[in-house]
Amino acid sequence: KRHLISAADLTRDDAVLVLDTAEEMARVADRPIKKLPTLRGRTIVNLFFEDSTRTRISFEAAAKRLSADVINFSAKGSSVSKGESLKDTALTLEAMGADAVVIRHPASGAPYRLANSGWIDSTVVNAGDGTHEHPTQALLDAFTLRRRLVGRDAGMGKGLDGRRVTIVGDVLHSRVARSNVLLLHTLGAEVTLVAPPTLVPVGVESWPCEVSYDLDAVLPKSDAVMMLRVQRERMNAAFFPTEREYSRRYGLNGHRMAKMPGEAIVMHPGPMVRGMEITAEVADSDRCTAVEQVANGVSARMAVLYLLLGGSEPAISTTRTEEN
Ligand code: CP
Repeated sequence: KRHLISAADLTRDDAVLVLDTAEEMARVADRPIKKLPTLRGRTIVNLFFEDSTRTRISFEAAAKRLSADVINFSAKGSSVSKGESLKDTALTLEAMGADAVVIRHPASGAPYRLANSGWIDSTVVNAGDGTHEHPTQALLDAFTLRRRLVGRDAGMGKGLDGRRVTIVGDVLHSRVARSNVLLLHTLGAEVTLVAPPTLVPVGVESWPCEVSYDLDAVLPKSDAVMMLRVQRERMNAAFFPTEREYSRRYGLNGHRMAKMPGEAIVMHPGPMVRGMEITAEVADSDRCTAVEQVANGVSARMAVLYLLLGGSEPAISTTRTEEN
């Protein structure tokens, strides 16, 4: 069985293959009929124990564009509220014939548990687990970066060597930041994290990136600046930063954006909190790729599902379970 649990599962060749395949998938979206027959007869379950707009909808769109059957499961309104466990929920879905389970869960490690427990025989794709990882977000971000900084055609077969990416904000609670640091480093980019000292994870010294506390000093040396949401839902209320203080030091406004090189882009994985980490002026500017990232997410997730379930290309060498 092949799974995608962590961005660390991907070698450079794997990651470039996903990005190249995503580029091919994006061409499907330009056609009058936006469908490929590749996964006809396969069933993909979207198993969401935590809220999502972009990831859930784009996995659904990606699976449908590959002609798979899609079952959407949301923990809200399900028997999870009656105390049903992850194991029993997963067994129920597998009994309905799932070939792949796309899982989002508030507990870090839940997708790994599902992939390696022996409970089910399906391919598992991590759609975001707690504060741990969000590997398909990192892939769609890398795809967006390669298109913008290297070029749509010029980027084929290439990584992001020497491109300077700054990730700003609540790194402590961000699975997006962790997956991006791992994947962007694999692809040759130079990553800098900028965060308040209270929102930097313990052990960050071992991450393959630099850490700075001075956003204004880093902006002129950035080819892309990725803003993160402050995840209040994962914080003790006593530690909430005030909007005014946070945005003054770590928010991106028009004045700050002007310090970036002319071609540099602003990224945001969404959901954005306008006025906190990003002003409306920046979010709505043509340098901000947030909406483009959502569109690219469908292509990147089509590539992942295709390579894991149906592709004839060499495998994505992801985590393998023991044969049951
Ligand atoms: N970027 C992201 O994961 O957004 P959702 O939480 O809406 O899926």
